[in-house]
Amino acid sequence: MIESPIRNYAALLEDKIAVVSGGGAGIGGGISRLFGSHGATVIVAEIDPERAELTVADIEAAGGRALAHVVDVRERDQVDVLAERVVADHGRVDVLVNNVGDYLKAMPFGRSDPDHWEALYAINFKHVLLMTHAFLPTMIEHHEGSIINVSSVEGMRGYPADPVYGALKAGVNHFTTCLALEVGRRGIRVNAVGPDLTQTPQVDYHAGLSEEQEKLWEVWAPVGRVGAPDDQADVVLFLASDQSRFVTGHAIPTDGGSLAGGGWYWSPDRRRWVNRPLTP
Ligand SMILES: NC(=O)c1ccc[n+]([C@@H]2O[C@H](COP(=O)([O-])OP(=O)(O)OC[C@H]3O[C@@H](n4cnc5c(N)ncnc54)[C@H](O)[C@@H]3O)[C@@H](O)[C@H]2O)c1
Repeated sequence: MIESPIRNYAALLEDKIAVVSGGGAGIGGGISRLFGSHGATVIVAEIDPERAELTVADIEAAGGRALAHVVDVRERDQVDVLAERVVADHGRVDVLVNNVGDYLKAMPFGRSDPDHWEALYAINFKHVLLMTHAFLPTMIEHHEGSIINVSSVEGMRGYPADPVYGALKAGVNHFTTCLALEVGRRGIRVNAVGPDLTQTPQVDYHAGLSEEQEKLWEVWAPVGRVGAPDDQADVVLFLASDQSRFVTGHAIPTDGGSLAGGGWYWSPDRRRWVNRPLTP
């Protein structure tokens, strides 16, 4: 018989060392703070020093442990220095969250150029490879690790505004799946989340909306509201922690239901779902 012992999940990351890229604001800020409150030592790997310090101060004020490390994760040299320092200071890394990403200026493929593709590649995919490559050896050495990539729901459905961005986010998801197979027997799990509709400095979902338009969230999101960084952070915490010890290789849509509802629209007038929203 397999025993099911009672477990205490009060602090899910006690004594863990966690690195969060872009951990100073938005979804990354939410992840850093939540990890801090669950006992992790959080390395806020952030390009913006002020954001990094603010997040560290918040975590410390709540009784947690955190350190700021200013880094541009698109740059290999800087990533290597980060990994060397973290391993030298803490001896290991248990959790790596590759959260940085940006749609930049979304543009149709026909009007885009190689500079745009390269900029999108650097901020959405290249750093996932650089950071993962830099931190994998210490995880392998300790036979323990959880890597979580923050991609996008746009890597799971067609993204008409910028096919290159959509393809790169899909690439992050598939890299997640493939790497999970490579490292599973070495004690390392690799998963991803695919956000949508989450209010952050990068995407202001309330910008320019009237009070009347704010009521349309029941049409725009199957859960009926805009998301917050905490909505993402809770799922990332699950994937980082031992609670998900039998889960690897997956990309979970964290999108308020937008992927599930794809092609269907809530009609407030008819109080039902329709697949042709403007038909009478
Ligand atoms: N907000 C959403 O609704 C949404 C939707 C789909 C996907 N995402 C994805 O979620 C992730 C986080 O998005 P967000 O909305 O919180 O973004 P954000 O821009 O609000 O926050 C990103 C953080 O990363 C930092 N950063 C940017 N470039 C960096 C670099 N080169 N090196 C280190 N740090 C850097 C920024 O200073 C900032 O603190 C991204 O991968 C994004 O593509 C978000």
